Amino acid sequence: MEYTVKSGDPEKQRNACVVAGVFEGRKLSPAARRLDEAAQGGLTAILRRGDLEGKPGQTLLLHNPAGLLCERLLLVGCGKEKDFHEGRYRETFAKMAKTLADTGTTEAVVYLTELGVKGRDIAWKLRHAVESVEMALYKFDRLKSHKSDKKRPLRKVILTVGKRSELAAGEAAVQQGLAISAGMHLVRDLGNLPGNICTPSYLADQARELEHQYGVKTTVLEREDMEKLGMGALLSVSRGSRQPPKLITIEYKGGKDDEPPVALVGKGLTFDAGGISIKPAAAMDEMKYDMCGGATVLGVIKACAELKLPINVVGVIPSSENLPDGDANKPGDVVTSMSGQTIEVLNTDAEGRLILCDALTYTERFHPVAVVDIATLTGACVIALGAHASGLLANNDQLARDLLNAGKYAHDRAWQLPLWSEYDKQLESNFADMANIGGREGGTITAACFLARYTKKFKWAHLDIAGTAWLGGKAKGGTGRPVPLLTTWLIQRCEAASE
Ligand code: BES
Ligand code: MN
Ligand code: ZN
Repeated sequence: MEYTVKSGDPEKQRNACVVAGVFEGRKLSPAARRLDEAAQGGLTAILRRGDLEGKPGQTLLLHNPAGLLCERLLLVGCGKEKDFHEGRYRETFAKMAKTLADTGTTEAVVYLTELGVKGRDIAWKLRHAVESVEMALYKFDRLKSHKSDKKRPLRKVILTVGKRSELAAGEAAVQQGLAISAGMHLVRDLGNLPGNICTPSYLADQARELEHQYGVKTTVLEREDMEKLGMGALLSVSRGSRQPPKLITIEYKGGKDDEPPVALVGKGLTFDAGGISIKPAAAMDEMKYDMCGGATVLGVIKACAELKLPINVVGVIPSSENLPDGDANKPGDVVTSMSGQTIEVLNTDAEGRLILCDALTYTERFHPVAVVDIATLTGACVIALGAHASGLLANNDQLARDLLNAGKYAHDRAWQLPLWSEYDKQLESNFADMANIGGREGGTITAACFLARYTKKFKWAHLDIAGTAWLGGKAKGGTGRPVPLLTTWLIQRCEAASE
């Protein structure tokens, strides 16, 4: 989709579809009011007949509206004006995009950007407009033999700003929205691909693809390389699988050569059946999404490369399957991690932490300024926070605050949980340095406590995205989160460095 930014009067737009908002109670937005004046009260008259109350989700498409120059006018319900918050702003754009696409509109001039969102400027509004439209129009039909849509696609969205002085900031914001959307698109595609296609080797190929597209440096460690490094925890998980494990490293260098990188470490478990501690059959297909942390690393690096951010980022993705097999991990097995610490595998389904702990130790060699790992790690996080917030745990308060704030700006929010030593005690084992589970209570926290034992050498935060990376039910599919949160965090780090 092409996006442009311009300033101009709504009543002067020709040859396109003009889009404006209407609040509940048929209250016209400023642009709708000007259109109504140009149409000599024509809009008010139509609304009075009861065609559009202004409730969220309502739309009204008018053709050749009398007295106006445009071919079409789309009015979008925005709900109560006093409730018009960030989420509603984004929903309004999503509804607009779907309506425009469904009606075969190819070009639209959009005035929804004029709607006030408390505390947010034009840059926020344009970025989120782009993301909401891109999100709404996403389709995954590459595995269907009959592609659904024959209609003329929406080609161009013109986003309006009130003043010419806002054009530059608006255009930069559109670029950010596009870069983040491109990253999310990649993550959603990879998540939606099934386990028989998206294997560890497939993920490695995707990382090599980024190397071709953007000149980042991709390295893939094979089983033998990992054996030499002593990655006994990671390798134990893949023993039950016929797909070879991969440890993927991607280095994006947008900063100075000697500047230490930010490291992103993502769980790339391409299918999690649980291993010998096998999962129940219901909804097990959703465990194809267990690589979304790894995909997020690829998506964020893609966004950084698109924006040419002046920062160094290294991505590390441990990738494996977790399946039952005669050679798989067994409950009670003790494995030795790359760090030298031994682990009693009491539950083979707590495999994410096993592949991550070795990847985190490996990350030490990059001397990172900060490390964020991203993982669909615990079902407990879905119970605690649902689908609305990712779990955040960190060994550094400033890092935690920065990530929480980036999540607010990105409307991709996280919520912090404590990493207290009382929880860590739950990991004690009779036979090894630690167990890989800490009981049912506080499952998200004990999983993070496990990882914390491998991250003592750097500033580290952990994002548990088990509830946010995909949606179940009728809208089943990857969400592309937390690409917006992490990309925003990196953009904000660049901004802070240039001040
Ligand atoms: N990939 C799962 C976590 C998960 C479960 C994400 C459900 C989304 C929905 C992870 O590998 C896992 O199986 N975790 C176990 C840990 C337990 C055995 C301590 C879990 O959450 O049940
Ligand atoms: Mn598991
Ligand atoms: Zn898993």
